[in-house]
Amino acid sequence: MCGIVARIGEGDDAVDELLAGLTNLEYRGYDSAGIAVQNGCGVGVRKRAGGIDDLRNALATDGPSGSVGIGHTRWSTHGPPTDANAHPHTDCDGDVAVVHNGIIENYDELRRTLSKAGHAFESDTDTEVIPHLIESALADGASPAAAFRAAVDRIEGSYAVAAVIGGREAVYAARNDSPLVVGEGESAQYLGSDVPAFLEFTERVAYLEDGDVVRVTPGGFTVTDADGERVQRTTETVDWDPQDTGKGGYDHYMLKEINEQPTALGRSVSGRTDPDAGAIDLDGFPPGTFEGIERVHLVAMGTSYHAAMYAESLLARRDVPARAFMASEYAMSPPPEEDGTLVIAISQSGETADTIGAVRAARAERTMVVTNVVGSSLTRECDDTLLVRAGPEIGVAATKSFSSQVATLSLLAERIRRDVVGSPSPDSRAFLSALSDLPDHVRRVVEGTAAEEVADAFTDSEAYFFIGRGPGHAVALEGALKFKEITYEHAEGFTAAELKHGPLALVTEDTPVFAVFNGSEGDTETLGNVKEIRARGGPVIAVASGDAPDLGDAVDRVLPVPATHPDLVGVLANVQLQLVAYHAAKRRGRSIDKPRNLAKSVTV
Ligand code: G6P
Repeated sequence: MCGIVARIGEGDDAVDELLAGLTNLEYRGYDSAGIAVQNGCGVGVRKRAGGIDDLRNALATDGPSGSVGIGHTRWSTHGPPTDANAHPHTDCDGDVAVVHNGIIENYDELRRTLSKAGHAFESDTDTEVIPHLIESALADGASPAAAFRAAVDRIEGSYAVAAVIGGREAVYAARNDSPLVVGEGESAQYLGSDVPAFLEFTERVAYLEDGDVVRVTPGGFTVTDADGERVQRTTETVDWDPQDTGKGGYDHYMLKEINEQPTALGRSVSGRTDPDAGAIDLDGFPPGTFEGIERVHLVAMGTSYHAAMYAESLLARRDVPARAFMASEYAMSPPPEEDGTLVIAISQSGETADTIGAVRAARAERTMVVTNVVGSSLTRECDDTLLVRAGPEIGVAATKSFSSQVATLSLLAERIRRDVVGSPSPDSRAFLSALSDLPDHVRRVVEGTAAEEVADAFTDSEAYFFIGRGPGHAVALEGALKFKEITYEHAEGFTAAELKHGPLALVTEDTPVFAVFNGSEGDTETLGNVKEIRARGGPVIAVASGDAPDLGDAVDRVLPVPATHPDLVGVLANVQLQLVAYHAAKRRGRSIDKPRNLAKSVTV
């Protein structure tokens, strides 16, 4: 993962804009950061282990200046987070500086060859071979653009890479399996791992393709493809509001994004359904789109995998055979080819390497991606794209993207059902009407929650368990993931029935159990499991709607959610669990938006 930014302008100093870009990209990696600035004759590099603020402090006392520069925020893959391993990396003379996101698979061999030729290396990274490759091509007489292309042609693996070369008012960049977008401003041009990197400076973007090599100068950019042919990459205007990428007065992005869920859900659903007519209008997926589909494979990682599990339940309820797979496992052993298989990749970023791997390995009739990011890698890999429209999500812990994924997938599930079975699901009007009410229901949960009080009541527990059935199982796993990611406490999710087959041995009075009730069939059984937990002294917090069975004194506390269609109770329950995790992490003083060892977008 790692984030890359570049600013190529005239006159004004690039450093402030590079730091602003790095701050916007910090969610991609935050264990070290650096910049390199081209000042007309040479290249000035500053880099530090730690966050962007450590770099900013270092620059405040002694910083280079110039109008063209590159920047990087790192999530370590090769070598620990030290000053030496931070990017940019340079050649022997410090005339070429390079930032990179991805993995160079043949770096060992390249490093040996370059070392034999006399190049000296200072870091443990794979990246460092690139500036030396450029240096060696320059020494052979190549022009800067040709030297950069020659270096790119020798590396194998996944990369988004950007370089500055002493004396040249340009940045040279390339992408292959790692994201890189160009931002076209009026007085300066930009490169970024994603659009928010430079959104405050320009909304005009061009998405690069795999194999593209780009030369960006203050006046514009030129692209050549993998064969070295000149190609056009069209520029479009994105409609994201730069304000969306700020904290908007909240202490943390995570809390802001939890609060944004009503708006995000409104965007996911709006214009896509007419509950009165019982109609679904999914852009690009008219009635009949899924005729001939016999089974659905859902592939994803992390929170998106939990959305996949949720969708598996929704499709099963609609008589469509479906299975959710962890994308990494699917990539390793994809199911055999059969007619009528639709693979749906789910990914907030559209850049997760494991999910891309699953789509590439799939032996499917069709592939589609459900993603939040226009122009992301998975939109290129898949036959079709369905956007979740949650808006930019910065907190590493995914929140609004999960809710929007589930809402979007629920509509997709109903669309698929109608094409595959030939009729709407029996209660589809009630479901569509509940979906329209979902933003308002989420607002009520956020405004009335007692999550902070619950988090405070269980601060010294040994472990935290989460149970549920069907969609409630997906929510239990997601609740546990959120809790462990940001509190660093031991948290596990199980199916409610699974408890008595092992995990019950762990239950004591120091292990609170959060039980998700779906407001439907299965809740009676979950209540039975809750009683088994209480009989062993385990405290139970129910997350339940008014349609759940009477919980009486079977539980210690209840986090209520509005009664709604059983397909959607889980979204509301999940919001309660997001808030519990948030308050538990805040009380512990954790780094909520950037939890240790994690990154938002895992592109390796
Ligand atoms: C990382 C993030 C998770 C995210 C997962 C999948 O592990 O920390 O929050 O759910 O990647 O990301 P995607 O962008 O594919 O949804």
